[in-house]
Order: sequence, then structure tokens, then C-alpha cells
Amino acid sequence: MFGLDGKTALVTGGAGSIGLESARLLRAHGARIALVDRDAAGLARAEAALGGPAGDILTVEADVATPEGAAHYVAATVARFGGIDILFSNAGNFGVAAPIEEYPLEAFDAVLAVHVRGAFLAAQHAVPHMKRGGSIVITSSVAGLRGDPGVYGYITAKHAQTGLMRVLAKELAPRGIRVNTVNPGPVDNGFQKAVEDDLGQVIGRDGTEFFNDIIPMGRHARPEEVARSVLYLASDQSSFTTGAILSVDGGMSV
Ligand SMILES: NC(=O)c1ccc[n+]([C@@H]2O[C@H](COP(=O)([O-])OP(=O)(O)OC[C@H]3O[C@@H](n4cnc5c(N)ncnc54)[C@H](O)[C@@H]3O)[C@@H](O)[C@H]2O)c1
Repeated sequence: MFGLDGKTALVTGGAGSIGLESARLLRAHGARIALVDRDAAGLARAEAALGGPAGDILTVEADVATPEGAAHYVAATVARFGGIDILFSNAGNFGVAAPIEEYPLEAFDAVLAVHVRGAFLAAQHAVPHMKRGGSIVITSSVAGLRGDPGVYGYITAKHAQTGLMRVLAKELAPRGIRVNTVNPGPVDNGFQKAVEDDLGQVIGRDGTEFFNDIIPMGRHARPEEVARSVLYLASDQSSFTTGAILSVDGGMSV
């Protein structure tokens, strides 16, 4: 049904929870996978989790926030697989949560560098290698649709990714390349646990409970639930969908 045979999917943040689950699912539907991450040990673990090494899996260590990193991972993917059909721009960091007077500028810049510069650079370097029928999916967040106290870098970055997605969607529509964001709510994984520990200090209550209370479905997402939405946006099943925000948040953004 999702028909990704012969397609190449480049997944940034591929050593992480959502990246790896998405790679697993895209591959199960036929795609060749380039996993990109700055965490070399994590990449090796991800490749092993996929049962690799294998001819349809490439791992590339790179920092998505730098033009050199983007040039490197795109060149490596094209050299190995001949082009890019699906760009899943997913690498992310959280920074910190802190009151406005205390929020460190370095953290603000570092978070925008990965999510905003990183997603921009990924598109800038990958698009020349993408053909009609291509799909770009950017992992934004419920944090791209609402505010919460102290989360200055992350929430600003996740909103900015929506703007980037919209510009790309309009510019690339005539070239037959669709661009959308997937916007997960809190996911049951290590990234979110660290966020909740940090946020809990700012809001003065348990961060996990805080989120479960404001998610209408009353729980966190599983990584594979996010991956299924990535698969939909990556495939031709969403052939007339571009410029869209696909929330996977149990109703948190409603
Ligand atoms: N976990 C959640 O609850 C949640 C919710 C909404 C959105 N998101 C977003 O989903 C995406 C994936 O997050 P995750 O939950 O899988 O977390 P994760 O920490 O498991 O994965 C993120 C990956 O990105 C990599 N990365 C970070 N900075 C990088 C850089 N400069 N260059 C290359 N790789 C880099 C990390 O090494 C890591 O492997 C992120 O964009 C995150 O903001 C997560």
C-alpha cells in the first residue's frame, strides 16, 4: 500500500527514538535508508537494531547544524543510493527550560541551530537530488503549536520549522515535491523524559503528570505511532497533501 520499493529515505536524527522507528517502518515498506546523526555510537546501535550492516542501510555521522555536515551526509547518500526520494528532517535537541531572565542565549542559539538551520540546510542540500514525487517531512512538535513556560529555544524553533515548511511547500509544489510537518505530542522516550525533568523544575510539579493532564487522550505517544504518520506523509498515499501540519498528539494542540 505504501509502495516505497526502490526509494531512498534520508533520516536525520536517525540514531534517536523517532528517527529509528521511522526508518524501521520506511524500510519495512521497501525504502533504502540513510541514517544521519552526530552520535556515532548511537548510529552503530541503530544499525544493529535494524539487523545491519546491510546493503540497503547507510549510516553517516554528521552535524546537521553545519553546511559541511549537510553537504557531507547528502553527498554520501547520493553516492551510495543515487538520489533522495524522502527527506525526513528529524534531528533535534531540547536545550533547557528556564525563566526568561535566566534563559541562556547559548542554549537558545544551539536549539535553533539544530532545528531551524539544520532543517533549512537539509532541504538546501537534498532538494537538488530530489525528483517529482519526492517528499520532505520535518519533525516539528506540539511545541510548534502552543507555548509553555520557560521553553524559549525549543518552542521558538518548533514554530519556526512550520514557517520553513510552508515556504518550501509553496516553492517546491511546481517541482512535484511535497513538504509537510509531523507534530508529535509528548512521546514516551528518553528525550521527553529529560524535558519533563527540566520543565518540572520550572513549573514546580511533576512534568510527566503535567503533560498527561493536558493531553485529552491522557497519555504519551509511542514512537511507532509517530512513525506511522511519517510513513503516510513520505508515501504517495498523501499525494495531494503539502503544506500540512499532521498532529500526533492525542488532541493536545486542539
Ligand atoms: N520526544 C518527544 O516527546 C518529541 C515530541 C515532539 C517532537 N519531537 C521531536 O522529534 C525529533 C526526534 O526526537 P526524539 O524524540 O527521537 O529524540 P532523540 O533524542 O531520541 O533523537 C534525536 C536525535 O537527534 C540527534 N541530533 C541532535 N542534534 C544533532 C545534530 N546537530 N546533528 C545530528 N544529529 C543530531 C541526536 O543525537 C539524537 O539521536 C526531534 O526533532 C524532537 O524535537 C520529540
